[in-house]
Formats: sequence, structure tokens, C-alpha cells
Amino acid sequence: MIKVDFLVIGSGLAGLSYALKVADYGKVCIISKTKIDETNTNLAQGGIAAVTHRPDSYKKHVEDTLIAGDGLCNKEIVEMIVSEAPKQIDKLVEWGAKFDKKPDGKFDLAKEGGHSEHRVLHHKDHTGNEIQRALIAQIKKHHNIEVIEFHFAIDLITQHHLGFSVIRHHTDIECYGIYLYDINSNKIKTVLAKTTYLATGGIGNVYHTTTNPKVATGDGIAMVYRAKGLIENMEFVQFHPTSLYNSGERPSFLITEAIRGFGAILRTSDGSEFMLKYDKRACLAPRDIVARAIDNEMKIRGDDFVYLDCTHLSSDKLIMNFPKIYQKCLSLDIDITKDFIPVVPAAHYLCGGVKVNNQAQTSIKFLYAAGETSSTGMHGANRLASNSLLEAVVYADKAARHAISVINEIDYNFNIPKWNDEGTSNLEEMVLITQEFKELQQIMTNYVGIVRSNLRLKRALLRLEILYKETEQLFERSTVSLKLCELRNAINIAYIIIKMAKHRKESRGLHYNIDYPLKNKLL
Ligand code: FAD
Ligand code: SIN
Repeated sequence: MIKVDFLVIGSGLAGLSYALKVADYGKVCIISKTKIDETNTNLAQGGIAAVTHRPDSYKKHVEDTLIAGDGLCNKEIVEMIVSEAPKQIDKLVEWGAKFDKKPDGKFDLAKEGGHSEHRVLHHKDHTGNEIQRALIAQIKKHHNIEVIEFHFAIDLITQHHLGFSVIRHHTDIECYGIYLYDINSNKIKTVLAKTTYLATGGIGNVYHTTTNPKVATGDGIAMVYRAKGLIENMEFVQFHPTSLYNSGERPSFLITEAIRGFGAILRTSDGSEFMLKYDKRACLAPRDIVARAIDNEMKIRGDDFVYLDCTHLSSDKLIMNFPKIYQKCLSLDIDITKDFIPVVPAAHYLCGGVKVNNQAQTSIKFLYAAGETSSTGMHGANRLASNSLLEAVVYADKAARHAISVINEIDYNFNIPKWNDEGTSNLEEMVLITQEFKELQQIMTNYVGIVRSNLRLKRALLRLEILYKETEQLFERSTVSLKLCELRNAINIAYIIIKMAKHRKESRGLHYNIDYPLKNKLL
């Protein structure tokens, strides 16, 4: 049994920055499913949005966020996050993260889709890697922080595990820690925690093509769902318009939106520009519009990709600002200074998730959530580019402040039973698990992707129900394995996405259903 004041599940920006902030107030344990740096954070390219100087203003950043969010953002939350951004950027810089600067010492700000100003701080084209590096260096220095890698959080421990079958109201549920699976030894441990903090990231692997690393299977959200906590806005799955088309590569390599901010142009296979047909902001329209336009052009022409053209841009500047993209493409014989880059949309970011209040508290007592796993009200129906790193670091701070203020009032619950594995055996059904995961990804990609319809959603749910029953049976009968747990979680996530998508009787933001056409728009 492990006993800890602050339990942190996840080692991306949300997890590590929270850990650093609470570490002076008690023992901290960070759990990471694989290596500490296998995170969405580590892959972030474009940067982190923040208002740093005029002519930009909080008002403009708030407005851009609300416009992208298509009427579903919580304005108060957006204002709070946008105005706290400079303070949290200062903290990241203090921890050692380096953002590119111009010769005059000011930040070199990039522009991305939906932003009315240049406001994205970045470290060339690998900002997330720089942030992750800086935070890991700080974490290693702190004596109160233990990092446990290659461990998988299976389930939250709540009253349910103590035998309470009837809980009157969802706000009465309490979290006492987690059951934790040691991937190397195959043992299941009990972790008792005064406070538990979920920073488990995204869900990209529920889809066939994704920019997310393989750890992104929605585990935190699935755990909260099974514990009967509140979840919202799951129908809003963001597809990034431009991932590199390279059949079979997983995760798909991202071609940052900042390159379009730099002047790159989307073209169809015959070389024609097409974005102005769809939006006056052309290639820098918000992501939902660009992804749908690309999807439409590919379908009309029967093409597998569209092109991104950088060939008219200064080669030197291109290579200097986007070195990773240049090298990656070159490794596939694409010289971006001379050749068009083949790109396709890929599942990228989940706008919804575990519902939290303005202090990052979930509906479950002693449980916080932040980062991509959470739903704060910031993104509404569609996230503005580079707003997620910002949201993660601001909400980690909110959660830390609250957890620190209550930690001394919370006791451990010592009545927790061990993980119940009665009636299970090692069935070693990897074939079934792998095939069911593939089926799940096909269902979600074919019926619950960029373009949806009532019939497609209905069909998806019918197919999913079969997978759900088969997987639950397997889970009941088998000893725990990583792949089986991930499949079970991914099926839970798919179920919630479909249910919420069916419930939304309109097209809005990232949820586009052809049975509810958008007014005054081409798509
Ligand atoms: P993550 O960084 O994804 O970390 C999740 C952690 O949870 C991992 O450590 C994982 O091991 C752990 N975990 C998950 N499940 C379990 C489990 N069951 N048990 C134990 N541990 C678990 N956003 C921007 O704002 N700007 C950008 O430029 C940008 N670029 C991006 C580029 C790419 C390619 C991708 C994929 C995303 C990008 N995003 C960007 C989005 C942004 O990176 C993420 O939303 C953000 O980093 C999420 O941080 P996080 O801390 O919430 O989760
Ligand atoms: C990108 O660099 O295009 C990704 C930015 C983001 O997802 O916010």
C-alpha cells in the first residue's frame, strides 16, 4: 500500500506543474502510465497563447476564444484564464522553460487559426518538449516528489468499494485514492491519498488517426464515469486539420498550425487554393472549419490528403522556425522548401471531459482534475489553438491552491479492501483485445468523426454495445492487463461521446451533424 498527501495521476504539464506547487505542503506521488515524458504535452508544437504586450489585449484574446467556442464557453472562466496567463508564463520561465525572443528582447509571437493577433509563445516548433524538459528538471530536484513510471491507474476508490451501494446524491461521492496496476510486475497496489488529482490527458486513440501518443486513451474520464462523477461536452472532439499523411505512422506527426500563420497555404491535389470558398479567414479560420473543408475536398475528389504549400516562403526562415518539421519531412523525402506537404485531419484534442468548478474540483470530493482530461468551460464547442497548455497551467495552479488550503483537514480512509480479482484467470486473449480496439477505432472514425448524422450515430451505438458487452465479460474473467484496461476505458469514452453527440440536436463548433445544417455556411 502507498500512502500520500497529494496523489497526481499524469506527468504532462497539468500534472507536473501542480506537483511542483503542492510539494512544499506534503508528500507528492506522480503516477505515469509509461515514461514520464510520453505525454501530449511533450508533443505540443505551436506554443502557448498569452497576451504579453500591445496591440494585443485580454479583451481580444477573450473574444477570439469565445468566437472559436461557438457560444458554449463560460465567459467568466475564459476571462479568468486569459488574465492569469502572464503570471503562469512567468512561472514557467522561472522553472526554466525558454520561449523564443526577438532581438529587442520581446517574445517572438506566432499567430494561429482564430487568433486576431500574434500571441503564441513558442520554442521553435517543439514548445511542449521544452516545457516538459524544464518541469522534469525541477521535479527531480524536489525531495517531496516521487515519480512512479509504468504504473496504470485502474479505478478511483470511492464508497462503492466499501460496500455502500446507495449514494443519495452525486456530490456525496468521495475519493480515497486509486487501485494501481504495476505494468512490469503485474501486481495491483492500493494507493491511499488525502487528495487525488487527475491529469491523464486526452482520448485521441479512440480514433484511427490521431496526433496523440499511445497513452491517450481517456483513462481519467473513464474512471470518473465509472465512479459516477460528472462529465460534459464529450461530443466536441477536435480534429487538427494538418497531420502529415504517412500511412501507418502512429501517432500521426503534426504539422503545426503556426506554419499557416507563417504563410503556408492549403491546396487540393490539382494545386488549387480552396479555403476562401469556406471562410474569409481562409487557411487561418478556426480548426473546425478548416478540418471540415479539407474533409469535404478530399471526399469530393476521392483524395487521401490535401497539400500544404510552403514553397513560396523564405527557405532560411522556414528551416529556422520549423526545424523539427523540416527534418521529419526530409526523412520522408519531402523537402518543404521545394515540395508540397501531404496532410490530413487527425483526432487531436478533447474539449469536454471531467466537469470542474473554478477551483478545479470535480463533483467527487477530494478529487481534482485539470488539463485535457477536464472540462473547465474555457473551450466551449471548439478550442482556440494554443489555449490548452494555457488552461492546463492555470488550472493546475487553481487546484494546487485549493488542495493546499484543505489538506490538513483531510484524513486517510484506512478501510479500503484490496483489489478484488476473485474468479479471474490469465486468459491471454491479446488477439481479441487488439481486434476489438481496431474495431472501436473504425466505428468512431467512420461514424463519429468530423461529419456525423443521426443514422451514423445510431449505428455507432449499436456496434459499440456489442464491443462493450464482450469487453466487460472479458474484464470480469481475466486478470488485469494494460491493454484490456485501456480497451475498457476507450469503449467507455466512445460510449459517452456517442451518447452526448446523439443528445445534441444541432450542429455547433466541432459537432457537425448533417441532419442539422449550419445556417449561412458552406458546410
Ligand atoms: P498530457 O500531457 O497528455 O499527460 C497525460 C499524462 O497522463 C501522461 O503522463 C500519461 O502517462 C498519464 N496517464 C494517462 N492515463 C493514465 C493512467 N491510467 N494511469 C497513469 N497515468 C496515466 N496545445 C497547445 O496549447 N499548444 C500546442 O502547441 C499544442 N500542440 C499539440 C501538438 C500535439 C501533437 C498534441 C498531441 C497536442 C497538442 N496540444 C497543444 C494539446 C496539448 O498538448 C495538450 O492538451 C496538453 O499538453 C495536455 O496536457 P495534460 O497535462 O493535460 O496531459
Ligand atoms: C499546433 O501547433 O498546430 C497545435 C496547437 C494546438 O493544438 O493548440
